[in-house]
Amino acid sequence: MYIKPNWRILTIGDGDLSFSASLWQNFQPKQLTATVFDSQQTLEDKYQHHAIDQLNTDSNQQVLFGFDVTNPKTWPKDWSVLKEQQFDLVIFQFPLVPAFEDPEFFHKMGDISVNTLNRLLLRQYLVHCEKYFLDPDGPQLCYITSKDVKPYCEWNIENSLNRDLENIQYLGSMLFDINKFPGYKVRNVDRDKHVKDTQGITCVWSPKTQPSENSENHDERLIARLESKTHQEKDCCKICKAGPFVSTQDKILHEQTKKHRLMQQYEDQFNQAIL
Ligand SMILES: C[S@@+](CC[C@H](N)C(=O)[O-])C[C@H]1O[C@@H](n2cnc3c(N)ncnc32)[C@H](O)[C@@H]1O
Repeated sequence: MYIKPNWRILTIGDGDLSFSASLWQNFQPKQLTATVFDSQQTLEDKYQHHAIDQLNTDSNQQVLFGFDVTNPKTWPKDWSVLKEQQFDLVIFQFPLVPAFEDPEFFHKMGDISVNTLNRLLLRQYLVHCEKYFLDPDGPQLCYITSKDVKPYCEWNIENSLNRDLENIQYLGSMLFDINKFPGYKVRNVDRDKHVKDTQGITCVWSPKTQPSENSENHDERLIARLESKTHQEKDCCKICKAGPFVSTQDKILHEQTKKHRLMQQYEDQFNQAIL
């Protein structure tokens, strides 16, 4: 994960704060605001081992509990009212909507699938990064780390989240090396478990487009590390990341597979939801 020491960083949806604590200790950013969706009490009840005590140890860091990235009413008041954009980088590690305790929740959501709910969460995250969190004079970077396993691989993160959002560009991805974050345990969304260390991939978006080739600023070095967007190329399936196809027949056969048809359904549902 590309991080510069002089950056001001906001982390979203940290389960037990072990990611933010490791980030602070090993990368020493200029400023860190770590946020947790749960209340402090819920976090302590949920996770026997957490990193609360490793944060709030310096005036350049703060921890905010009960922070829902989709709902400005849960943020410090001046963030949305004053539109104070103060961060260089916002990071959301392994996002996942919680399995809401309220049995009425999914009923209220009507026909919206969990797949669509996760995509909508991340789309809203990108919109709020651009609108409220990122300093327009900084590098303006949004990271989402996910992995190539279900459910993440069914969200078509790279191609769908910023659909029709003119101010947010997808820049590419880089491998997430968890060894650079000692002490970080990727948390299960609702249980006191940590999940297997499957290879993570960090995808990057920005309101800024790619800087010019001659520019020697930090964005340039970040972009240089991003993998090429192979699966956005024309002979690949943009939804399933299959291909490149060697012939039209090859492509047609792929489009008849169960996997492609399911992915197309998710795609259609999401398109419907963002109309
Ligand atoms: C699989 S857990 C990963 C936790 C942590 N980021 C990690 O890497 O260990 C998914 C996290 O997304 C958070 N989350 C889900 N919806 C959210 C929202 N609307 N705002 C902020 N965080 C959210 C959950 O609280 C949960 O901690």
